[in-house]
Amino acid sequence: MRFPAEPFRIKVVEKIRRTTRDEREELLGRAGLNVFMIPSDAIYVDLLTDSGTGAMSDQQWAGLMIGDESYAGSKSFFKFETAVRDITGYPFVTPTHQGRVAENLLFSTICEKGKTVISNTHFDTTRANVEMNNAVALDLPVKEAYDPQLGKLWKGNMDLDKLEHELKKNRDNIPLVVMTVTNNSAGGQPVSMENIRASSRICKQYGVPFFIDCARFAENCWFIHEFEPGYKGKPIIEIARELFSHADGCWMSAKKDALVNIGGFIAMNDVELARKLQQKLILIEGFPTYGGLAGRDLEAVAIGLYEGMEIEYLQYRTAQVKYLGDMLLDAGISIVRPVGGHAVFIDAKTLCPHIPAEQFPGVAVTVALYREAGVRGVEIGSLMFGHKDKDGKHVAPPLELVRLAIPRRVYTTAHITYVAESLAELYNNRSKIKGLALTYEAPVLRHFTARMEEVG
Ligand code: F0G
Repeated sequence: MRFPAEPFRIKVVEKIRRTTRDEREELLGRAGLNVFMIPSDAIYVDLLTDSGTGAMSDQQWAGLMIGDESYAGSKSFFKFETAVRDITGYPFVTPTHQGRVAENLLFSTICEKGKTVISNTHFDTTRANVEMNNAVALDLPVKEAYDPQLGKLWKGNMDLDKLEHELKKNRDNIPLVVMTVTNNSAGGQPVSMENIRASSRICKQYGVPFFIDCARFAENCWFIHEFEPGYKGKPIIEIARELFSHADGCWMSAKKDALVNIGGFIAMNDVELARKLQQKLILIEGFPTYGGLAGRDLEAVAIGLYEGMEIEYLQYRTAQVKYLGDMLLDAGISIVRPVGGHAVFIDAKTLCPHIPAEQFPGVAVTVALYREAGVRGVEIGSLMFGHKDKDGKHVAPPLELVRLAIPRRVYTTAHITYVAESLAELYNNRSKIKGLALTYEAPVLRHFTARMEEVG
């Protein structure tokens, strides 16, 4: 056995369809070679995201039936609030319908021109919410985060010297420091407790609030449990409580480690700030005891938060992701190392050395993977983050990646093996993968709607 078997059995199944290569070719043509435009029922294994795509348990489905849909003071809210308080220790808990709303409430309250928010790496929506409010989003990850082949642990960490330097220089203009666990935009890499503790100490010293973006906190705690001295054998919930105790608050997209299809929250110690956010919440989401969610959704989050911290589940979960990574390495495919908590990132530059950055090697791999195998991944490279300079020359980001994000409790080992074997075959025929040229691009977030054609 290469990894622990699924710690669950399957009670409900959802049919997935195997399309023919001809059908996929036609769909790709209609989609302008953009896998975002492919209908999901024509996808065999969908690794576009691990967000909101997980399978709920029987307990969570049962929870839906007892969801209390009262507008104010719902029983389900109190269950949700008790769970969040129990795990994070923060008294003021505000539900939101997903993570980015929490970001919107927070950054529209604390950001303005001249302010800088610091993170180990802002996730895209976090960055966008900071920048929308005219502030600067500054990433200060450790330098190892930029070296994809370096198989070192804790590549999600914050660079402590740089953090201290910025706070010393500019503390009055830094309304918040946020640690993203795990560090999604840096390959889902974990952050060590030592780094969280030290970042917290520095923030306290300069009087700057320290928050956790905890979308994948349980996966991060699993890495601490496995690899950080002093934590082996400790229950994950205790590790989580320690992690949160170092911060002043957190926000969460519950669509990841809380194992639900929709949900989120923001929680904190500061009552004044919490009240300000709740005023805005009423305008954009709803009353503070439901925050854009149905009572049944709150119920499912309250249950999922604990299920996401079960050690057998986390062992299986992280091992399944690593299994895919190891199979790709065995096939000779370069990936970001070590494998993070929720996804495997393929290094498209080494898979397609014949495709220059301005011909989008990452997108070319996603097209080939869909065409040959019906598997959907997502490019994180020149299409998503590249731009043109004033002479119209393509400016590429440092890495050309394809993210294969694994939904939670959804695919079996056989599905994952199928993905790995399809990629191995693609790798053996990699010289046939063609570069792409844009035929349409939107002025912002072009990767969602871009249309392309093959060149050469
Ligand atoms: N923070 C992190 C670290 C995230 O990964 C995400 C979403 C968000 C915040 C925003 O939460 O989607 O509930 O509004 N990540 C998804 C992904 C979209 O595919 O990685 P949301």
